[in-house]
Amino acid sequence: MNEKRILAIETSCDETAAAVVANGRRVLSNVVASQVEAHAPYGGVVPEIASRQHVEAVNWVVDRALGEAGLRLSELDAVAVTAGPGVVGALLVGVSTAKVLAYAAGLPLVPINHIEGHICANYIACESLEPPFLCLVASGGHSHIVQVESYGEYRLLGQALDDAAGEAFDKAARVLGLPYPGGPALDALAEGGHPNAIPLPQAKTEGRYDFSFSCVKTALINQVRRMRQTGAEPHAEDIAASFRMAVVQSLVEKTMLAALDTGAKAVALAGGVASNRLLRANLGEAAAQKGIRCLIPPPWLCTDNAAMIASAAYHRAGLEKGAALALNADPGMQLFQGRCG
Ligand code: KG4
Ligand code: ZN
Repeated sequence: MNEKRILAIETSCDETAAAVVANGRRVLSNVVASQVEAHAPYGGVVPEIASRQHVEAVNWVVDRALGEAGLRLSELDAVAVTAGPGVVGALLVGVSTAKVLAYAAGLPLVPINHIEGHICANYIACESLEPPFLCLVASGGHSHIVQVESYGEYRLLGQALDDAAGEAFDKAARVLGLPYPGGPALDALAEGGHPNAIPLPQAKTEGRYDFSFSCVKTALINQVRRMRQTGAEPHAEDIAASFRMAVVQSLVEKTMLAALDTGAKAVALAGGVASNRLLRANLGEAAAQKGIRCLIPPPWLCTDNAAMIASAAYHRAGLEKGAALALNADPGMQLFQGRCG
């Protein structure tokens, strides 16, 4: 059988990534150049710096991805690229590079939504996975509960009404004086604390499957201020553990509610926050208790990478046709119809 091999480029935020994936499941190469060091002094992603770093890295990252896969451009079937959502200047670097490569090699150009990429990371992590399944996508910019109805068909069941889960982790980490990126640092710190040390509220949302993390974040900020005003230095491990527990509880509760309501046979995790240790453990346990299969990709497939973009491209219908070379980056790109994606 003839394999379809896709080169994908991902530059939506602060990682320059390229990968070659066969048949949407078998990773032949996966290269990620992180910009963490460049953004760390500013405590977050600086769009202008991100764009410049992508320009510097993208060519060697693509070269290395092709080299590690042992393939030339002419041996590929398509070039896929993240077209949105994301930082516009950063996206443009990937889109322009993909256009040049596709044109030069006469290959179809396949624009992919970053969130769809995160979902499709699960096809790489689990070779036997097929839709339908439910997916919790929790990243720096998005928290979505998505029903994957078939390949390329998604229904949004619930979403964050204010801060995304990753954003909430990053902001809480900043309050605790942790270095950027805050999510992984807070996760590590929480391992040494008591999750019930500090009472934090769970927000009520009108939508049954929606999230709201801003009130947990505000409660945490107020707690830390109050403690500092009384001269007591807050116990950072306990605060981190309590915050992590509050966010994870909400993510797991709403995801399980949606899974049970829709009769899902499988729930999957996706996005950077899916590498959170407590989330992985608690969702796995909650799903097992209800006899629902739980798919948890390894951390390298949860955080931004290009292999997931190649997988999404493979599973899109009409791959051979490709997009016009007039393709533009779309920082607000939507994946879902009806509700805001
Ligand atoms: O998917 P991703 O790599 O990039 C976006 O598309 O946003 O997600 C990055 C987000 C950041 O907010 C980061 O702090 C968070 O995922 N994150 C974590 C962990 N690892 C990454 N949050 C909590 N615990 C973690 N272990
Ligand atoms: Zn992402």
